[in-house]
Amino acid sequence: MIDSIKEKFNELFEGEPVIVRSPGRVNLIGEHTDYNMGFVLPAAIDKAVYYAIKPRDDKKVNLFAFDLNEGWQFEVNNIGKSEKSWANYLIGVVDQINKSGKEIMGFDCVFGGNIPIGAGLSSSAAIEAGLAFALNSLFNLGFDKLDLVKLAQRAENQFVGVQCGIMDQYINIFGKKGNVLRIDCRSLDYEYFPFEFDDVSVVLFNTNVSHSLASSEYNQRRQECSSGVDIIKRQYPHVESLRDVTPAMLEENRDKLDGVIYKRCKYVIEENQRLLNACEALNNNNLSEFGQYMYGSHQGLSKEYEVSCPELDYLVELVSGREGVYGARMMGGGFGGCTINLIKNNYVDSVWQLVKENYKKKFGIEAEVYVTSINNGTEIIEL
Ligand code: GLA
Repeated sequence: MIDSIKEKFNELFEGEPVIVRSPGRVNLIGEHTDYNMGFVLPAAIDKAVYYAIKPRDDKKVNLFAFDLNEGWQFEVNNIGKSEKSWANYLIGVVDQINKSGKEIMGFDCVFGGNIPIGAGLSSSAAIEAGLAFALNSLFNLGFDKLDLVKLAQRAENQFVGVQCGIMDQYINIFGKKGNVLRIDCRSLDYEYFPFEFDDVSVVLFNTNVSHSLASSEYNQRRQECSSGVDIIKRQYPHVESLRDVTPAMLEENRDKLDGVIYKRCKYVIEENQRLLNACEALNNNNLSEFGQYMYGSHQGLSKEYEVSCPELDYLVELVSGREGVYGARMMGGGFGGCTINLIKNNYVDSVWQLVKENYKKKFGIEAEVYVTSINNGTEIIEL
């Protein structure tokens, strides 16, 4: 992969590029909690986007998307939306650098990778944060890691127009081989937890569906949570997000909340607690207990937060309680994409066979499997 991207660079441009690797991510538990100022537990993985990139001495930017075999050009000082949707993830980053008051020259860039698109593995954050990281080092912009995370998130929020939380960009920059990262999305503090079990794999089953309501429902969930906060705030003025709401405070306000809003808030508050419990279980090397919290997370996402879909529910139900499976849940925004499963190595093949055959029978769609390993966040791999 890296060689083909370098080859393409040499064919299109002059000089020796820097190579940057920018990973996709999984999230073990803590879903739809980031924009509610709660906790998440993601890890960067071995699937990644690779950049071959080199500064120019004028203001031209030449982009080339290797996987699509398509290019796009623009000028650093003349930012506008591209008709090619992939280019907007990159233009948005340059736009944010301009807005920060720092100056860059143009650059030549070929990028491509193996993060499946629409599978909930954050290929878009990998593109944004990877470019932000690359430009920061090529032009010595002096942004620290957290600046890069926020810059990449703003690119997505403001330029691409998706109101995502901070998890995906954060783990992309802060990921560490062999570790999951607990991010406190209110304080933006973090803590690494070793996650290396010789006999257990993190396995993703891709439903290969991505229902089109995903982004409108995502924004609606954000809205529902903030309506809940507005009501609870009347009694408890210090409350700024669901993170500040205890289960008791929620119950006290139950009759003032619409039934749907109550369910959404309940899920988020419980998910934060589940995540903290899951980290305790991890500290005790207790994967069976950890897996139970994953199932709990899925139930909440499916029944209370209502961001699952029949395909995801089916895949979780199918594997739950099977020998060798510790836990399973839908992962990411929902309405399609992957389930994440913790499976003993010597059961991975048989569970995959079960999933493959039954999923095809039930939905007429081929599922896919990715056995992932936990890798570093974005890094320069060749100077
Ligand atoms: C998407 C968003 C994240 C997060 C998850 C749900 O991946 O980009 O910020 O909200 O959904 O946990």
